[in-house]
Amino acid sequence: MGPADLEDIISSIQPRYGNSVLVGPGDDAGVYLINGIAIVETVDVITPVVNDPFTFGAISAINSISDVYAMGGKPVSALAIAGFSSCDYDVDVFKEILRGAIHSLRRAGAFLIGGHSFEDPELKFGLSVTGVVDKNKILKVSGATEGDIIIITKPVGIGILTTSLKAGKLNEDDIKTAIDWMLTINDKASALALAAEATSCTDITGFGLLGHAYNMVRNSDIDFVIKYDSIPVLEHVDKMISSGMIPEGAYNNLKFLNGKVEFSDRLTEDERLLLSDPQTSGGLLLTLKQEKIKIFQDSDIFFSIIGSVVKGSGKIIVQ
Ligand code: CO
Ligand code: CO
Repeated sequence: MGPADLEDIISSIQPRYGNSVLVGPGDDAGVYLINGIAIVETVDVITPVVNDPFTFGAISAINSISDVYAMGGKPVSALAIAGFSSCDYDVDVFKEILRGAIHSLRRAGAFLIGGHSFEDPELKFGLSVTGVVDKNKILKVSGATEGDIIIITKPVGIGILTTSLKAGKLNEDDIKTAIDWMLTINDKASALALAAEATSCTDITGFGLLGHAYNMVRNSDIDFVIKYDSIPVLEHVDKMISSGMIPEGAYNNLKFLNGKVEFSDRLTEDERLLLSDPQTSGGLLLTLKQEKIKIFQDSDIFFSIIGSVVKGSGKIIVQ
């Protein structure tokens, strides 16, 4: 989940938790201590982002387990959640979606152990995921400190490309790189974040890079300074933005961020929208001490240093 949504409402109407709740609403996942074992719990459901049902199921599963990795945990089991309209229902399509999800879960060492479906005019699929985490090494959304550097582990623009696919402006071959990124599990990035003692961590999903970055600084005495030119962007994205292929969610995210993000005057509306583009199965966004970056540099994982943490008042500055 993310800023100003369901989780905020839960916190407001249920302000207190027992000692067993290690992480409550407002982070990527909740963490609950049972007999000394920290259990990570999260749920995410999405609408199709690609036409192929197996690939959609595979992507949706990786998107759902990502919140466990964003906490520094490992997924162990999952339940499927599926919305579909019974008039359009095709059992073979459904089987392929589930096969894709099971394939992704196996890659992550987890099992699908059940599920629930409901009637919905628009196809939806996702997982409720249970994972485990070392209770002393939980990666939280807050905790970034002055002087830290900020890194991102996947390029952005996924929402713009899947919108272009739906509109028929691009085909699945054109967005092959984006599909490969959506199928990339955040397990290695999470392991490196733990090794590098990341001071804060989240994954970039529906609220876009800036929305999730804001979630890391809100109600704090730090600001994130992000350099636009250091943000990796997928191919075809620039062309698609100019032809108007911008998802509704990007506009909503940018509107929400009004007053919370200070943009350099040189950044165009399109560039601001790109940083607000909702991502499906996006990368991790994390902060770490400058000297720990060597751990990422010595690995073969993709990453980009996109800015740094300064003393401030809980806002994002984009230069
Ligand atoms: Co989430
Ligand atoms: Co998340």
